[in-house]
Amino acid sequence: MSRWTAERKKDYYYKEAKKHGYRARSAFKLIQINKRYGVLKKGGIVIDLGSSPGGWSQIASRYASKVIAVDTQPMQPIEKVVFIQGDITDEETVEKIKEKVEKVDVVISDASPNISGHYTLDQAKSVWLCQNALKIAKEFLREGGNFICKIFEGEDYPEFLQEVKKYFRMVKPHTPKASRKKSSEIYIVAKGFKGKRD
Ligand SMILES: C[S@@+](CC[C@H](N)C(=O)[O-])C[C@H]1O[C@@H](n2cnc3c(N)ncnc32)[C@H](O)[C@@H]1O
Repeated sequence: MSRWTAERKKDYYYKEAKKHGYRARSAFKLIQINKRYGVLKKGGIVIDLGSSPGGWSQIASRYASKVIAVDTQPMQPIEKVVFIQGDITDEETVEKIKEKVEKVDVVISDASPNISGHYTLDQAKSVWLCQNALKIAKEFLREGGNFICKIFEGEDYPEFLQEVKKYFRMVKPHTPKASRKKSSEIYIVAKGFKGKRD
C-alpha cells in the first residue's frame, strides 16, 4: 500500500464518505459550506462544475429539482442529475448546458486543475477555471442566485475576489473544516446575484 493510500484510509472524512455512500470526501465540504451559508435552495436548479466523481452532485440533488453536472471526466449516473462530459472553458460545453436549461438558482464549482507541482502554474490554472465558472454563473443565474467557487490562494486571488464582488450582494471566502490542513484551497461563497451587467 502506498503512503498516500495509507494516509487516505486514515482520513476521517474519507471514512465518513465511505460510511454515507458519498463518492468523494469533498461532499462534506459542500455540506459544511451549505450549513453555514444556506446556498442550496429547495426545488431549485443547480449547475455543478467539475462534478466528477459526483460527491457534490449527490448533496445538491437532495435539495434541487435538477442538477446539471459538468466534467471532462466521466461520471456515474445519479437520480435528478443530467451529466455533460465537457471542458468548462469550452464554448461548446456552454452551448450544451444551454440545451438543458435556461436559468438556474445556484452554480457551484469544485473544478481544480491536475496538480503539476509548480504552484504558480497550478494557481494560475485554478484562477482560469474560476473565471470560466463565473462566466457560466453570469450567463445562467437568475437574479438573486448563488455561486460557490473553489480557488487556490495566490497572486491572482484578490483580484478574482473583487471581480466576484461586482456581481453578488454577499461574498465571503471560506475554508470548510473538511478541507485538508495542508491545502491552499479557498471556497468563495457568493449570494444574491445582481443580474447580468456585461
Ligand atoms: C476535486 S474534483 C471535484 C470533486 C467533486 N466536487 C465531487 O464532490 O465529487 C475536481 C474536478 O474538476 C474537473 N475539472 C478540471 N478541469 C476541468 C475543466 N476544464 N472542465 C471540466 N471539469 C474540469 C476534474 O476532472 C475533476 O473531476
